[in-house]
Amino acid sequence: MCAVTAIFITATGTDVGKTYVAASLIGHFRRMGRVVEAIKPVVSGFDPAHVAESDPGVLLRALGAPVSAETAERISPWRFRAPLSPDLAAAQEGRAIDVDAVIAFCQGAVERRRDLLLIEGVGGIMVPLDGERTVLDVMMALRLPLILVTGSYLGTISHTLTALDSLFRRDLDVLATIVSETAGSTVPLDETVAAIARFAEPVIALPRKLQGDEPSGRPPPLSRIFDRAGRRSR
Ligand SMILES: Nc1ncnc2c1ncn2[C@@H]1O[C@H](COP(=O)(O)OP(=O)(O)OP(=O)(O)O)[C@@H](O)[C@H]1O
Ligand SMILES: [Mg+2]
Repeated sequence: MCAVTAIFITATGTDVGKTYVAASLIGHFRRMGRVVEAIKPVVSGFDPAHVAESDPGVLLRALGAPVSAETAERISPWRFRAPLSPDLAAAQEGRAIDVDAVIAFCQGAVERRRDLLLIEGVGGIMVPLDGERTVLDVMMALRLPLILVTGSYLGTISHTLTALDSLFRRDLDVLATIVSETAGSTVPLDETVAAIARFAEPVIALPRKLQGDEPSGRPPPLSRIFDRAGRRSR
């Protein structure tokens, strides 16, 4: 089986851990000697005064690339200030997202990738990008292998299975579900992982990092998804 060379990282919702997982994957693959690139085409809640804390800032740091307004713009051309769904955040600035241009940007990055490209989505699977299209439409246009990131909060099992169902029904290729432990969750992480795994394998547990850990410093057990050569393990 061929090495995986492009992955789209999506989630059941915003703030569950897409960037954290992306940074972990970047660290994992860089340590394996792979040349990794990453883009996050659309970002809302972006504060130009704090690029380092933004999603592109975190991704650039994990890539070992300089963090600046210019490099953030290069990997995230659509940046909006309001912490709202992208369509609403764009509207607040009197703008609209050209979804075809987002798809073309991603396809260009896929075509030009040197080795491995990670694409972080925005929000959850069906967050609107314009009046009628969502991130799911972008994923369907690209048809890249996906990683679904989800939380471990009470209620996540139904959210995750609903999300997986919408991906499977469209014949999208889900490499793995990663459960990024929700802060203060009352539900044991392992039980959540086991419940989801009864419906769709593989499911990877990503425990909450310890204070001060860099995301790229503690990779999840990615060997269950990728072997040492970066090929799919299943
Ligand atoms: N397993 C984890 N351990 C520790 N912190 C985590 C973990 N997963 C996520 N976080 C933290 O939770 C916060 C939200 O995660 P993250 O930014 O990765 O979410 P996201 O899905 O990328 O959100 P967005 O929709 O804004 O892109 C971040 O501060 C991140 O560092
Ligand atoms: Mg993010």
